[in-house]
Amino acid sequence: MMQDKLEQIKKKALEDHIPIIMDDTLEVIANILEENKPHKILEIGTAVGYSAICFAKYLAEDGKIDTIERDKERIIEAHKNIKDLGLQDIIHIYEGDAVEILPSLEEKYDMVFIDAAKGKYPFFLNQALRLLNKNGIIFADNILYKGYVMSDYNKHKQRTAVRNLREYIKEVTENPNIETEILEVGDGLAVSRVK
Ligand SMILES: C[S@@+](CC[C@H](N)C(=O)[O-])C[C@H]1O[C@@H](n2cnc3c(N)ncnc32)[C@H](O)[C@@H]1O
Repeated sequence: MMQDKLEQIKKKALEDHIPIIMDDTLEVIANILEENKPHKILEIGTAVGYSAICFAKYLAEDGKIDTIERDKERIIEAHKNIKDLGLQDIIHIYEGDAVEILPSLEEKYDMVFIDAAKGKYPFFLNQALRLLNKNGIIFADNILYKGYVMSDYNKHKQRTAVRNLREYIKEVTENPNIETEILEVGDGLAVSRVK
């Protein structure tokens, strides 16, 4: 039942060209969530709620997900999808720009999933580090961005995004308090464990 509804949400998102988490990326994250049973997850980039809904089943009892989205139409659809699955008390949507919302948050999270504007990844990382509990994990999706990030081709029109994704990778790989794996699943996933 839940699986059918999830499949419908996924199918509609794909038909509407809304970018949602890819199956292999989801599988990697789901395995890590299953092992860690987080109490609180923060997601940056809700779209229509698909990934947040998928993550909900791996939460600890009393676990919660906060997710941030700025697109009004997507917020409406995410609310509907979340309600359809009875998860309205578990998943909370912060409506607005993550660049403004993140600095106002005070709660601590066990995991942060970064899946929004690529040009803002270094900013999102700093905020995630501020909001993360000890031994927390940060996932950053699309970190290899169609291969542009690891190639030397930098005349692409998305070069600001590419530069910022590279800066993100540099920070998480050079910071001695962070252990990072860059996985070639989906569009690239960085998994960073923070000591
Ligand atoms: C890749 S989609 C998220 C997909 C979702 N996590 C999933 O897998 O089901 C990225 C979303 O982030 C939103 N977004 C991008 N930049 C944002 C920002 N600065 N603040 C809030 N939302 C943002 C976009 O509107 C878009 O819906």
